[in-house]
Amino acid sequence: MTQNTAHLLVVDDDADMLRLLTMRLNAAGYKVSTATSAEAALNLLDIERPQLVLSDVRLPGRDGLALFDDIRARHPSLPVILLTAHGTIPDAVEATERGVFTYLTKPFDGKALEGKIAQALALSSPPSPVQSGGKSDSWQAEIISRSSRMAETLAEARLIAQSDASVMLRGESGTGKEMLAQAIHRASARASHPFIAVNCGAIPEALLESELFGHVKGAFTDAVANHKGLFQAAEGGTLLLDEIGDMPLALQVKLLRVLQERVVRPLGSSQSIPVDVRILSATHKDLDAAMADGQFRTDLYYRLNVVTLTLPPLSERREDIPLLANHFLVKLAAKYSKRLSGFAPEALKALATAAWPGNVRQLYNVVEQVCALATTPLIPLTLIQRALRVPSIQVLTLAEARQRFERGYLVDLLKLTDGNVADAARLADRNRTEFYRLMQKHGLTPGHFKPETQGNP
Ligand SMILES: Nc1ncnc2c1ncn2[C@@H]1O[C@H](COP(=O)(O)OP(=O)(O)OP(=O)(O)O)[C@@H](O)[C@H]1O
Ligand SMILES: [Mg+2]
Repeated sequence: MTQNTAHLLVVDDDADMLRLLTMRLNAAGYKVSTATSAEAALNLLDIERPQLVLSDVRLPGRDGLALFDDIRARHPSLPVILLTAHGTIPDAVEATERGVFTYLTKPFDGKALEGKIAQALALSSPPSPVQSGGKSDSWQAEIISRSSRMAETLAEARLIAQSDASVMLRGESGTGKEMLAQAIHRASARASHPFIAVNCGAIPEALLESELFGHVKGAFTDAVANHKGLFQAAEGGTLLLDEIGDMPLALQVKLLRVLQERVVRPLGSSQSIPVDVRILSATHKDLDAAMADGQFRTDLYYRLNVVTLTLPPLSERREDIPLLANHFLVKLAAKYSKRLSGFAPEALKALATAAWPGNVRQLYNVVEQVCALATTPLIPLTLIQRALRVPSIQVLTLAEARQRFERGYLVDLLKLTDGNVADAARLADRNRTEFYRLMQKHGLTPGHFKPETQGNP
C-alpha cells in the first residue's frame, strides 16, 4: 500500500460530519483542512493548496456547486468531489456534467470515498519523472507554450529542479509563476512529497508566523491545540513562498534563520525541529526597489535567490496566444457544456494583438467570458472585442507603418521650420525637389505650417 501524503480540503457546515470525515481521512494518511462554508473554503484556497476538495452540496450561502464553479475558475485542475444528500441525484448529474470529478450520496461507504479520492488524485497528478524513468515530459504537461523564450526557461527549470537550490520566480502577475513552481517540484526528486504554496501577502502578519512555523497549544489565546506549520507540512517536498515581497520585515528575519539553520521552532515551543524542504519563492514586485527602500532584507534575498527564473510577459511571446486561447477554449467549453469549435480568424487576430497587461490569467478570463456568452460554435470578433474592452494594438503592414512614420516625420520637420521647405529639407538631408515630392505624396503644403495661416496639415 502506498503512503497517502496528499492534502485534502473538506467543506461541510455540519460540525459532526466534518469531524467524522477528518478522522477517517487522517486515518487513511491524508492531511485535512476544513471549512464550514464556500466562502471560507475559497479563502483557504488562497492560502493553502490542497490537492483535492471534498464538499457537501448543501451549504449555507453559496452551495457546493457554486463553490465548484469558483474553484474551476481559479484552479482548473483541482479535483472536486461532492457529497449529496439522498434523493438529490439530478443535482449530482448536473454536477458531473459541469466537470465535478464525482459525487457520493450520503450516507456513503468510507471505503468507497477513499477509493474515489485515490482515483481523483491519481488522475490529477501526473506520474513524477522519477517514477517514469526521467524520460517523460509530464512535469511540464500543463504548461502550454511554443515560444522559444519559454522553452529556454523550461529547460533551465528542469535542470535546476534536479538540485535543491533555492529558486526565485519572477515575472508580471499572471505569467505562470505558480504553475512553473509546481512543474519544478514535479520534475524534482521531491515529486512524491508535498508541494505547498503559501501566499505571504494574503495572510495577516499575526498569523503568518504560526502558519509557517506552527505553534504549540497555549502559545497564544486561540492556540487550543498544537499546530504544525507549513514548513513541517512540506517535509521532504517543496514550499513555495508566493508574494515574498509582501512578507513583513520582522518575519523576514525569522525566515532567514530557518533557511540558514534548517530548523523551525513553533511559536511557544522551546524545541527546534529539523526540516528538509526545498524553497521556491515568487514575486511580481520589484525587490531591488524594496531592498533599496529597506523593505526587503538583502541577506534574505540572496538566500532565496540562488537562481532566478524569469517568466516573459505574454506580450513578448505572442506566438503562445492562439495556442493558449484554444487550450482554454477546449477546457471551458467542457465547463459550460457548450459545443464550441474555435475562434473566427479575426477574433484570433484580435487576441493575438491585444496588450495583455494581466498576461495568461487575463487571457484565461477573456476566454472564459466569451465561452459563457457565446451563442455560436465559432467565437466571433465582437465577443472578443467586448471582453477585451481595451482597444487592441493596431497591426499595420510594413508599408503602412513606413507611410505613417514618414508623414509624421515630415509634419514634425515642417512644424519645426514654420513651413520653410528649404530648412526642412536640409534637416532631413534631402534636396528641395525630393522633399517637395515627399510632401506631395502625403498631401502636405508648406502654407499649412506658416505661423500666420496655421491650419490642419
Ligand atoms: N503556459 C501556461 N499554460 C497554461 N496555463 C497557464 C500558463 N501560464 C499560466 N497559466 C494559467 O494562468 C493562470 C495564472 O498563472 P499563475 O497563477 O501561475 O500566475 P502567477 O505568475 O503566479 O500570477 P500572480 O503573480 O498573479 O500570482 C493560472 O490559471 C494558470 O493555470
Ligand atoms: Mg501567483
